[in-house]
Amino acid sequence: MAIEFILGVVYVLTVFFLFKFIRSVIRGIWVVFFRPAKNLKKYGSWAVITGCTDGLGRAIVFELASKGLNIVLVGRDPEKLKAVSIEIGRRYKLIETKDVVIDFLKHSGAEISKFIEEGIEGLDIGILINVAGVNYPTARYFHEVDEDLMYSLLKVNIDSVTWMTKSVLPVMIRKRKGAIVNIGSGSSAIIPSSPLFTLYASTKCYMDQLSRSLHVEYKKYGTDVHVQVYNIGKLKFLLLF
Ligand SMILES: NC(=O)c1ccc[n+]([C@@H]2O[C@H](COP(=O)([O-])OP(=O)(O)OC[C@H]3O[C@@H](n4cnc5c(N)ncnc54)[C@H](OP(=O)(O)O)[C@@H]3O)[C@@H](O)[C@H]2O)c1
Repeated sequence: MAIEFILGVVYVLTVFFLFKFIRSVIRGIWVVFFRPAKNLKKYGSWAVITGCTDGLGRAIVFELASKGLNIVLVGRDPEKLKAVSIEIGRRYKLIETKDVVIDFLKHSGAEISKFIEEGIEGLDIGILINVAGVNYPTARYFHEVDEDLMYSLLKVNIDSVTWMTKSVLPVMIRKRKGAIVNIGSGSSAIIPSSPLFTLYASTKCYMDQLSRSLHVEYKKYGTDVHVQVYNIGKLKFLLLF
C-alpha cells in the first residue's frame, strides 16, 4: 500500500514536471521565433539608449528608428553621437534625435541624473535601453584585474544602469507605462560560473537581479523591465519584451 502510494506520488510529480518542461520549451520557441513584435510606440514616442555609438547599441538604435521611435542618444563622445544622429536623419527623415553627452566613468550618479533629467524633459519617453558596457580585453584571474579596469567595470556596468534607471523610471511611473531593457550576458545566466571573467559576469548578475526585481516592483505601474541575455541576432531581442 505504502509502495503504491509512493509510486503514485512519483508518477504525478513526473507528469507534472514533464508537462511544465514541455510547455516552457514550446513557449520559448513561440516567443523567440513566432510571436509578433510589440508595437513599441505604445510605450511612448521616444526611446533613451546608452552605448549607442558602437556594436549592439548602434544596431538597436537603427532598429528602433525603423519602428518610428525618436531617440535620445546617450554617449561619451560628442562626435560619435553626432555621426549616429546624422546617419539616422539620412535613413529615417521623420525621426528626431537628441544627444546627451555623459561619460559613465567620469560622471557621478548625481551628475548622470541631472544630465538625463534635463535631456528628457518634455519628451514622451517610453523606452530605456541600457546597452553601454565594458568587458575584459582578454581572460584573466581576478587578482590580475588592474585598478582602472576594475573601476570601469563597476562604473559602466553597474553604476550607469542604476542611475539611468533611477532617472528615467519616474517618467514611466507618472505615465503608468514604459519598458526598460538591460543588456546582460550569458556569462551570468546560462553557465553556472564564469572563471577568468569573474568581475564582468558578476556585474551582469547585478543587472540580472536588478531587472527581475524591478519587473516585479513596477509591474503595477505598467512598466516592463527585461534583461536580455542571449544574443540571438542583434534584432531578435525586440521580440522578447
Ligand atoms: N558583444 C558581445 O558578444 C556581448 C555578449 C554579451 C553581452 N554583451 C553586452 O552588450 C553590451 C554591448 O556590447 P558591445 O559588444 O556592443 O560593446 P561595444 O561595441 O564595445 O560598445 C560599447 C558601447 O558602450 C559605450 N561606453 C563604453 N564605456 C562608456 C563610458 N565610460 N561612458 C559612456 N559610454 C560608454 C561605448 O561608447 P564609445 O563608442 O564612446 O566607446 C559603446 O557605445 C555590453 O553591455 C556587453 O556587456 C555583449
